[in-house]
Amino acid sequence: LRNSHLTTTVRELRDALAESRRAGARIGLVPTMGAFHEGHLSLMRAARRGCDVVVVSLFVNPTQFGEATDLAMYPRDEQRDLALAAREDVDFVFAPHTAEIYPDGFATTVTVAGLITESLEAAHRGREHFDGVTTVVAKLLNIVAPDVAYFGQKDAQQAVVIRRMVADLNISVEIEICPSVRAPDGLALSSRNARLSGDERVRATALHRGLARAATLAAAGERDAATILAAARVELEDAEIEPEYFELVDSETLMPMSTLNGRPATAVIAARVGEIRLIDNEPLQLQGEA
Ligand code: PAF
Repeated sequence: LRNSHLTTTVRELRDALAESRRAGARIGLVPTMGAFHEGHLSLMRAARRGCDVVVVSLFVNPTQFGEATDLAMYPRDEQRDLALAAREDVDFVFAPHTAEIYPDGFATTVTVAGLITESLEAAHRGREHFDGVTTVVAKLLNIVAPDVAYFGQKDAQQAVVIRRMVADLNISVEIEICPSVRAPDGLALSSRNARLSGDERVRATALHRGLARAATLAAAGERDAATILAAARVELEDAEIEPEYFELVDSETLMPMSTLNGRPATAVIAARVGEIRLIDNEPLQLQGEA
């Protein structure tokens, strides 16, 4: 097992990548906020399969946290993360200090406008959340200049927003979205899951059951969103979970759909279980689709 090369400055990372880049190596970037679980590791494996050089960034980005407590509570264990990255044969871990990313005088924000940064997560966390995400991701893409960047389907709205930014700003990178990784009982992996009590952890599995029910009905030919969601909500009621939102949306525009009309659609959900806010989603396969 060889250690991943740890870099903390932009200069150091760029110098380290320069030779591979000159030699025409395909460079993959996995942007993360650390606290690795199987979801992150699956992105690293996808990057390892698809690229010659794999860079993982590890930066808990303060500008995307609305609640100060959420930032303070965010789990951090860099030594463990470095060991896990090494095990996935990651070449470089870029773990900058906050001042390296946001030095004195920093004054630029990258904003994606419109419904995709106003609805769903933004309605609950504030649109500043996505400004924080797009600004830091734009910086990471400029710092690393990867050929491919990997993100998880779990954050479906983030993926849509990043694709929009990359297209609008002509950033020369392929965006690859990898499937959500779930615990055996269906709960989507998240660093927040560790904060659920035993009882909450059991109730939290209802999010996936609700999504799965919606997916089953859509696959069986039901087209009416209200009918699908009413049936799926029963799963949540049984677990005494009141979702913040639970909708069928167009996978590309995130517009709510009242009828599944053949365009790609995704069931999206957010709910608090106790104090912990969880999100999940399931792309829908309609009857007749492969
Ligand atoms: O998905 C995340 O972990 C973060 O939003 C990201 C993309 C690393 C930006 O800070």
